[in-house]
Amino acid sequence: MPRAGKRFLVQNGGNADIEVTRARGNYIYDARDRKYIDFMMGWCVGNFGWARPALRRRVGAFDGPDYVYPEYTYKPWRELAQLLLGLAPEGLSRCCRATGGSEAVELALQAAMLHTGRMKFVAIEDAYHGNTLGALSVGDGDDAVRVLSVARLKPPLDADALDRLETRLKRRDVAALIMEPIAMNLGVLIPETDFMEGLVPLCHRYGTLLILDEVATGFGRTGKLFASEYYDVRPDMMTIAKAATGGAAGIGGLLLREELAETLEEDGNVYSTYGWHPLSVDVAIANVRWVKRNQSRLLRQVDRTSTYFAQRLRDMSFEEEPEFRWRGLAIAADVRDEKYAERVANRCRARGLLLDAQDSVLLMLPALNVDRATAKAGLDILEACL
Ligand SMILES: Cc1ncc(COP(=O)(O)O)c(C=O)c1O
Repeated sequence: MPRAGKRFLVQNGGNADIEVTRARGNYIYDARDRKYIDFMMGWCVGNFGWARPALRRRVGAFDGPDYVYPEYTYKPWRELAQLLLGLAPEGLSRCCRATGGSEAVELALQAAMLHTGRMKFVAIEDAYHGNTLGALSVGDGDDAVRVLSVARLKPPLDADALDRLETRLKRRDVAALIMEPIAMNLGVLIPETDFMEGLVPLCHRYGTLLILDEVATGFGRTGKLFASEYYDVRPDMMTIAKAATGGAAGIGGLLLREELAETLEEDGNVYSTYGWHPLSVDVAIANVRWVKRNQSRLLRQVDRTSTYFAQRLRDMSFEEEPEFRWRGLAIAADVRDEKYAERVANRCRARGLLLDAQDSVLLMLPALNVDRATAKAGLDILEACL
């Protein structure tokens, strides 16, 4: 008999007993009316706090069409595409519509295969890029569901990794390398600058494309609008989703270079029934415009809050000295013991703080505009639970 939270549903993860009834700002409320400080924010979705009044009003006032058939055109699609492309790395000139991150990744893999005529990929070992079969193949999926041939590059991502990558690319059969520019799914793994800046010249030398997956890192999480801005790197394709709407609707997108867009149009399939649903597009436009307008203030706040988190964490007494890794408000403490990480996360939850435990890593992803009092209250709970 499944636990109450999983009845009728198939679900991964151990938090199914939190029956969410409400979410406001930095807080989640459950059916027992318990209030949790949210340092997960839906895992990089609610970057700007839950239930933002401006977005709520926008959803309530939406007066557009219920639905637009994917082969018609719709002005807000172009508006959103233009807005996103204006913020993205140079060289990306068009957008593919998707319902979420996995579909965006899938489109990128499709474009890479069609454009290069190759079937193989390189990905970072143990990465995560979504739950579709292509995405699981380039991610940490079980061998039984891997449908693509994927070579895995083992971190650390440094000059040596670049050499190992070159050895693989020399066979000239790799369609694309896919990775997160800062790997949220690997406990905020930060590639070295030389690695990231050597990628495009190296990949292109051997006819391989570079896909940067900004589904989790996008929209300010790491202290830049996109994590790729930490490096001088121009990807061939970039995926986005999650915080594009801040959680008020579902969306995903693939941003890509012109010739790749043309390949997809001529030879591929980009039909997505609910990709860029009018309501989602309206919310995304309002959200991304707000982010764009408030970008410098928001990123300055991320910087200050990140420093505060770092100082507090360094002063805490963990069982063993952790390895801290952070960029902006993507904050990881590798406590070197999976059981301890899980125990701490469970204790925090019991005391009203939600954070993530991934293997031996405690991961904190608070809202980018979290106020100091809430940040302090959350960190006080963490300190008491160590
Ligand atoms: C880096 C990355 N790519 C892709 C995905 C898949 O996105 P979605 O769950 O919207 O399909 C995720 C989801 O966590 C992710 O973290």
